[in-house]
Amino acid sequence: MRVLLVGGTGMLGTEIKRILEPAHEVITASRKDSDVAVDLSDKASIVAMYEKVGKVGAVVCVGGAAKFAPLDALADDDYAFSLANKLMGQVNLVRCAIGHVDEGGSVTLTSGTLAQEPMVGGAAVSLVNAGVEGFARVAALELQGKLRVNVVSPGWVSETLTSMGKDGSQGIAAADVAKVYKRAVDETMTGQTLGAAKT
Ligand SMILES: NC(=O)c1ccc[n+]([C@@H]2O[C@H](COP(=O)([O-])OP(=O)(O)OC[C@H]3O[C@@H](n4cnc5c(N)ncnc54)[C@H](OP(=O)(O)O)[C@@H]3O)[C@@H](O)[C@H]2O)c1
Repeated sequence: MRVLLVGGTGMLGTEIKRILEPAHEVITASRKDSDVAVDLSDKASIVAMYEKVGKVGAVVCVGGAAKFAPLDALADDDYAFSLANKLMGQVNLVRCAIGHVDEGGSVTLTSGTLAQEPMVGGAAVSLVNAGVEGFARVAALELQGKLRVNVVSPGWVSETLTSMGKDGSQGIAAADVAKVYKRAVDETMTGQTLGAAKT
């Protein structure tokens, strides 16, 4: 199957590419250094990406960002950035997928534990992650039989914790998180938010 992997050059994207590649043809997309360029915050760029890539069987998104800062530091621009980027970027990936993803194919999006678990500084990130999960449930319902839509909600990834100078053993290895994305591509579920567990 041809799989379009948005954010394929990132930490999680690199592991997802590695785990999908033996069985699938993976096409990476991001703003730089990918097979195809895309800026998730720009809908026209998403449309152009789909047109350039041609038909695929699955789309996986591990790209997009949201601003992490306390409430009193979050400015209008920070909310606008977060909503346009990780939220509407992923919403538009699904909206624009129609006609570009094979019938019965899938789109797998990314949220994060802050959708459910509050954390100081996480207001904009929680807003975006919860929005992604809510949107995906309804999109899956309305697109039943045409397109599967799922979300992966990674907990803290070990490698990310380590890069932040924290205890990596408290997180889940990126390779284990990648297995969850593979399930969303290869299996038949839709409308699900899938967590990642330690193995
Ligand atoms: N790592 C964690 O512990 C963790 C935990 C929970 C949730 N998550 C979520 O998982 C996702 C991936 O995390 P990660 O740690 O792998 O991030 P990462 O290493 O920073 O990689 C992000 C990827 O997305 C691309 N990207 C960023 N902004 C983009 C945009 N506007 N348009 C298109 N591509 C864009 C980047 O490439 P370019 O810069 O070239 O565009 C890169 O390929 C994020 O949504 C993150 O919130 C991560």
